[in-house]
Amino acid sequence: MINLKELIASEIMDEALGLTLEDIESMIEIPSDEKMGDFAFPCFRLAKTMRKAPQMIAADIAERISGSEYFAKVEQVNAYVNIFINREFYIKALVNEVNEQGADYGKSNGGKGKTVIVEYSSPNIAKPFHIGHIRSTVIGNSIYKLYDATGHNVIRINYLGDYGTQFGKMIVAYRKWGSEEELKANPIKSLLSYYTKFHVEVEEHPELDDEARETFVRLEAGEPEEVALWEKFREYSLAEFNRVYDMLDITFDSYTGESFFSDKMPAIVDEMREKNLLVESQGAHIVDLEPYGMTPAVILKSDGSSLYATRDIAAAVYRKQTYDFDKCIYVVASQQNLHFKQWKKVLELMGHEWEKDCIHVPFGLVSLEEGTMSTRHGRVVFLEDVLNNAVAKTKEIMLEKNADTPELDEIAKQVGIGAVIFQELSNNRIKDYTFSWNKVLNFDGETGPYVQYTHARASSVLRNATEAELASIAAGEFDPSYLTGESAYSLVKLISRVPEVIVDAAEKYEPSILTRHLVDIAQSFNKFYHDEHILVDNADEKLAKLALVAASKTAIANCLALLGVKAPERM
Ligand code: ARG
Repeated sequence: MINLKELIASEIMDEALGLTLEDIESMIEIPSDEKMGDFAFPCFRLAKTMRKAPQMIAADIAERISGSEYFAKVEQVNAYVNIFINREFYIKALVNEVNEQGADYGKSNGGKGKTVIVEYSSPNIAKPFHIGHIRSTVIGNSIYKLYDATGHNVIRINYLGDYGTQFGKMIVAYRKWGSEEELKANPIKSLLSYYTKFHVEVEEHPELDDEARETFVRLEAGEPEEVALWEKFREYSLAEFNRVYDMLDITFDSYTGESFFSDKMPAIVDEMREKNLLVESQGAHIVDLEPYGMTPAVILKSDGSSLYATRDIAAAVYRKQTYDFDKCIYVVASQQNLHFKQWKKVLELMGHEWEKDCIHVPFGLVSLEEGTMSTRHGRVVFLEDVLNNAVAKTKEIMLEKNADTPELDEIAKQVGIGAVIFQELSNNRIKDYTFSWNKVLNFDGETGPYVQYTHARASSVLRNATEAELASIAAGEFDPSYLTGESAYSLVKLISRVPEVIVDAAEKYEPSILTRHLVDIAQSFNKFYHDEHILVDNADEKLAKLALVAASKTAIANCLALLGVKAPERM
C-alpha cells in the first residue's frame, strides 16, 4: 500500500533534521489553497534544533527533493516546502490503494487500545418503538461504526427503559382493563391502549396515581406478582424491538437497561450520603445544584423509590468499573440536556473525575407533517410501520422504473430501509426535522436511493469488465495518464479524503459529515460517468477508467456501510 504522506516523509527524511520518519509524516499538511500545492511541510519547528532560519531550511529541503519522480513541482514559500504531486503517480497510487484495501479502505487505527462505549436506541419497554426512537438508533449505530473503523474497541449498549414509575401505571391499567388474550395477540399496541386509558381515567380518578405509585414500590421490593407482570411486558416488548433491529440490521453487545441497576442503587445512595451530598427536601432526598445554576437532582422520592437520575448514576459507575472506558457516549435526545448536565455534575461532586469522559450526544426532534407525537395521547407512528411502508413504496417506484433485477423484494428492502436511515443521517443531528415521504424516497435528490443507485451503476459498469481486465486492476497495472482530466481527478481527490472524513465524523459524533462527503463522491462519480465514455475501444483507456470505477464503487460501499446502509449491486 502506498501512503502518500509516508512517501513524502521518506523523501524529506534526512539525519540532519533530527526528526523521525513519523515526526515528519505528522507534520505534513494539506494546504487549503490548491495553488499552494497538494501537500506542504512547515519548517518552523526545525529552526531551533538546526540553528538556521526556517526559510533557509525550507529552501534546502525543496532543492534536495525536487528531483523526485513523485513530484511534479517543489517550491519553497517562506518557511514552507510546497509539494505538487505528480498527478499520474498520485492517481495510480490512490486507485491502487483503494482497490487493494477493498472493504478496509477508509479504516485507520488512531483509536488502538482505547475502549469506547456507545449507548443508543434505549427504547422504553411496553411503549411503542416509534419514529422518535429511530434517531438515537440510527445515529448511535453509525457512531459505533465510525469508532470501530478508527480502531477503537467499541461496546454497544442498549439501555432499555425497563424500569420506573410508569410500570406501576402499566400494571394497574393491565389489571383493570387488560386481558391475557389481547396482550398475547398484539402486545405493544394493547399495552399502549391500557396506558393511554390510564392517563384518561386519572383525570377523573386521581387516586389511580397513588395506586400506581404503590404498585411500583411493590415491584421495586420484588413482590412476585408484580415482577411476573413486569417480566411479561419486558419479554413481549423486546420481541417487538428485535423485529425492528433485524430490519435495520442493528445489534448490541449488551441490553443492560434501567432495571439491571435497581439493586445497585442503595450503594450509590449510601456513597452520596457519606460524601454529604444528599439533603432532605419535602421528604425526598436531593442533591442541591443551585450553586451551579440548576434545579436539584432528585435521588430518592419521598416513598423511597428511586429515579431515572439515580439509575443513570449507578449505570455510569458500573460501566466505568466493568469496562474501564476511555469514553462513554450517550446518544440521547436534546430534550434530556438538563438531565445529563445534572447527572454529570452529581458524578463530579461524587469525586468521579472520569465524568469528563462521559459525553452526551444530543439530537433534535422529529415531527410528523401532521404535528408532534405523544405517547400519552396515543398519537404515534410506529417505526416498524414506517420501515414497511418505505419498502412497499420503494417497490412501487422500482416497478414503475422497470428496475433491472430479479431480486426485487430484497432490493426494495435495502433501498426502502436505507432511504429512511440515510435521511436521518443527512442533516446535522442537532437540527429538528419533519419526516416527509417525498423527501425520503426521492431517487434524484441527495438521498440514500440516489447514492445506492450510483453504487449499482458502478457495479453494472464493472460487470462489463473481462476476467483479464479485473486481474490487471487487482494487480494495479493500468496507465493513469487516461485519468488526469478534471472530472476523474476531482473524483480521485474526493475518494482520497475518505479516511480523514471518517476520523472527523467520529471525533465530532456527526455521521452527517460522512453522509455529505458521500453525496459529493456520488455526484462526482456521476459527472465522470457522463463526461467520459468508459467502455471505449482503446483497451488501455478502458482499463484505466474501469480501475477508477472499481475504486469509486469500493469507496461508496464503505461509506454506506458506516452509515448502516446496504449497497445493492443492482437496482
Ligand atoms: N429510555 C429513555 C427514553 O426513551 C432514553 C434513555 C437514555 N439513556 C440514558 N442513559 N438516560 O427517553
